[in-house]
Amino acid sequence: MKFRILIIDDEKNIREGLAEYLQEDGYEVECAKDGEEGWNFFNNGDVDLVITDLRMPGIGGEEILRRILAQAPGFPVIVLTGHGTVETAVNAMRDGAWDFLTKPVDMDHLSLKIKRALENRELVFKHRQMTEEIERRKQFNSIIGNSRNIREVFETMSKAAPTKASILITGESGVGKELVADAIHELSPRKDFPLVKVHCAALSSSLLESELFGHEKGAFTGAVSQRHGRFELASGGTLFLDEIGEIDQNIQIKLLRVLQEKKFERVGGEKTVEVDVRIVAATNKDLKAEIEKGNFREDLYFRLNVVNIFVPPLRERKDDIPLLAASFLKEFAQENGKTIEGIHEKARSRLYSYEWPGNIRELRNCIESAVVMCQSNMITVDDLPPVLRDTPDEGWINIRLGANMEECEKAIIRGTLSYCKGNKTKAADMLGIGRKTLLRKLEDIDG
Ligand SMILES: Nc1ncnc2c1ncn2[C@@H]1O[C@H](COP(=O)(O)OP(=O)(O)OP(=O)(O)O)[C@@H](O)[C@H]1O
Ligand SMILES: [Mg+2]
Repeated sequence: MKFRILIIDDEKNIREGLAEYLQEDGYEVECAKDGEEGWNFFNNGDVDLVITDLRMPGIGGEEILRRILAQAPGFPVIVLTGHGTVETAVNAMRDGAWDFLTKPVDMDHLSLKIKRALENRELVFKHRQMTEEIERRKQFNSIIGNSRNIREVFETMSKAAPTKASILITGESGVGKELVADAIHELSPRKDFPLVKVHCAALSSSLLESELFGHEKGAFTGAVSQRHGRFELASGGTLFLDEIGEIDQNIQIKLLRVLQEKKFERVGGEKTVEVDVRIVAATNKDLKAEIEKGNFREDLYFRLNVVNIFVPPLRERKDDIPLLAASFLKEFAQENGKTIEGIHEKARSRLYSYEWPGNIRELRNCIESAVVMCQSNMITVDDLPPVLRDTPDEGWINIRLGANMEECEKAIIRGTLSYCKGNKTKAADMLGIGRKTLLRKLEDIDG
């Protein structure tokens, strides 16, 4: 596809000189002799970039710039200015021009500026597409993702949410277990009743007991009045028990009883309270291992784990990184009052090759700090936190445009092999071919 450039200048020589040069450079060019004509062209033609003179009779360059940006924010406009009028050019930059050049125009300079502006435009465009995608995906609450792995999670969620079944959400720290719990509640018929959350690890055993089940007046020192526990508060709705792997045996037994009989007594009380509560629990512990060690009751485990939702770590759904990053970028740019159009290619590749031990929480923090550091309209590698900034560009290869298939294959094989530190079995695995096929291909390459 050829990019189309619109040149607006009242001087015929300049117009035609630039047009000729840019056509030779591979662009399609339209010329307009004044602002009026230029504005018409812009509105009717499919233009990718505008070069405009500033001082023209009628509608001047500044007005053209203003109109274009009002209609298409972020559109690349390069302004031309005569000698000694740098100040007007600076004003134009402040008004949102992409760049400026002084006359007489240095063609190589111009060529480079155009190239950069168009590259940026492509990135901005991609970023916009992604933002729209994000809007479309709001259905699972704020869980962003479109990878195969996360879609499986969505599928289980939509099946399980409308039922009364207890759900156990498992997965590493920071993968989004709490978001999944929120979404389950929202997708369930209980959504108009409370969703009550208890962070089990944060409370001592006795506090947790009274927190969950409430207490009667005088149950213990300080229990000056009767208090309803979270079970009662969640009546008709959902109770989310976070970090369920941390609760002790005593509470495990009480919990088991509520799950079986939907009944319990408040601490220090005789009266049996009945509740209709749906339980969703989460843990980043391996509960089966805890059962083996005798720390967690197996019967409780089965009661909780009627449906299991495993939320995979981010490194196993890297396809979600661009969407997640774009969404966090939008959020934090807004929060910090910054206009940031996107993430530079190199920085994106860093985000992609990193393994994210802290999962989505870490990615979110990383983008927040990058937004704070960012001084331009694009996040660059320099804006990233040190763990990402200081990693070499591993996991990527460069293939020049115009390379033929044979060269591409060669580069991919070589690159993968070096990425796998020469381990051919691993490289073949990664390439999705048999080891023998890889050996044959290597022979061809080396031969
Ligand atoms: N798919 C997602 N889309 C958007 N934001 C997400 C997604 N998954 C997680 N997050 C965000 O990442 C952060 C961590 O998520 P969350 O607290 O749900 O993780 P967790 O699995 O409960 O972690 P922990 O085990 O440490 O409690 C939150 O800020 C959450 O909003
Ligand atoms: Mg959590």
